[in-house]
Amino acid sequence: MDVEHDIRAIGHRLAEAFPRSVRHPIRALDGKAMDFTSQDEELRAALFRFVDVTPACTSPDDLARHLVGFLEEVPDRPPPLEAAMRMGNSRAGRQALGLASAAGVRHMAQRFIVGATPKDAMRSVGSLWRHDIATSVDLLGEATVTTEEADRYAARCAEALEVLSDAAAGWPERPVLERDAAGAIPRANLSVKVSALTPHMRPDAPEVGREDAAGRLRPLLRQARDLGAHLHIDSESVDSLETTLGLVFALLDEDEFAEGPDAGVVLQAYLRESPGQLGQILEWAERADRATPLTVRLVKGAYWDHEVVEARQHGWSVPVFEEKADSDRNFEVLTARLLEGRPHVRVAIASHNLRSVAHAIARNRATGAADTEIELQVLRGLGDDLAVALAEHGMRVRAYSPVGDLVAGMAYLVRRLLENTANESFLHERASGAELDALLAAP
Ligand code: 2OP
Repeated sequence: MDVEHDIRAIGHRLAEAFPRSVRHPIRALDGKAMDFTSQDEELRAALFRFVDVTPACTSPDDLARHLVGFLEEVPDRPPPLEAAMRMGNSRAGRQALGLASAAGVRHMAQRFIVGATPKDAMRSVGSLWRHDIATSVDLLGEATVTTEEADRYAARCAEALEVLSDAAAGWPERPVLERDAAGAIPRANLSVKVSALTPHMRPDAPEVGREDAAGRLRPLLRQARDLGAHLHIDSESVDSLETTLGLVFALLDEDEFAEGPDAGVVLQAYLRESPGQLGQILEWAERADRATPLTVRLVKGAYWDHEVVEARQHGWSVPVFEEKADSDRNFEVLTARLLEGRPHVRVAIASHNLRSVAHAIARNRATGAADTEIELQVLRGLGDDLAVALAEHGMRVRAYSPVGDLVAGMAYLVRRLLENTANESFLHERASGAELDALLAAP
């Protein structure tokens, strides 16, 4: 069987199903909205700094001054930015510029954030479900620095589990989304970040952070178990990874969690160490033999810039692949190994790269399994077109859906901007008109 041939065929069929109309209910914005920053590194850096300070700015005037300040550092400014800078010369101009740029940042954020509170978010989340797309709700806010913040995050998670489970009870049946060979798949699905559950996450004293986070994660696991909800523990930067996986496995090994909840972890394919980490995850899943298999969400990884900068600053060896093709190749190797890890794990492939997704579908078919024996995941606001196409093809697809306000969401927003504006990003290449066959070629 020629897997490469299947990958191309699947990729073409999916691409044809991308919704053409910008008015499609699921489609948030047109895919070119963020193109402008990708050409020029300095401009990109200036705009990121600007996005970062936006929530802290107190007035349009303040915002406009910041914007002009950042843009002054950009050597070759395209004409629209020159015009923006001239607006900075007058009070009225700054007012207009400040308002327009604040609206711009908010607009960009709204593309990713499905609601300010879990209750607000249920409209979007319910609508996605009705359009055959499941969700994982993520409460924005991470890397907390105080106990109060961590308590508040845990309370927001508890509220979200409650609100989600309530809402989900009223959703119509969607067999593809709620069942596979291993059994029922919870409708309510929440992703949590361990760095938000404790202010003490430090690589030099991992046990302190672990204990503290356990104190807040345990009640959430109990609640998810009692509500029949899925709890997914996200992976963050590499310095917290061992602590996170160790914590999740230790808690799930506790007697009270033997029967539930349905839970999941994340594997980041851009990490050079990820093959070893997958080994540990598979070994644990096989030994634990839980009532419902552990879901493993395979991602490329969202902290690339952070990992590279951090390692270089400290003179450490860089923990991530520096060539994108290496991450893409590793993603495929890990996909194949994960598929072999069933039935002890459920496989969730999270990528906006049509090649990576088509590869997973083809590989899964090559094992003789039904399409619904894998799950495909996208980020709300970035992978909407792909999600619609996958749902149309009868695949189980889940959109990662952040909830919260702009301030809490800034780190998330900056990660999305970094990915989406990288010249090598699949979405960016596709938007710039690269041939589909070239994009579907083996990495
Ligand atoms: C992030 O927060 C999606 O978990 C990923 O960037």
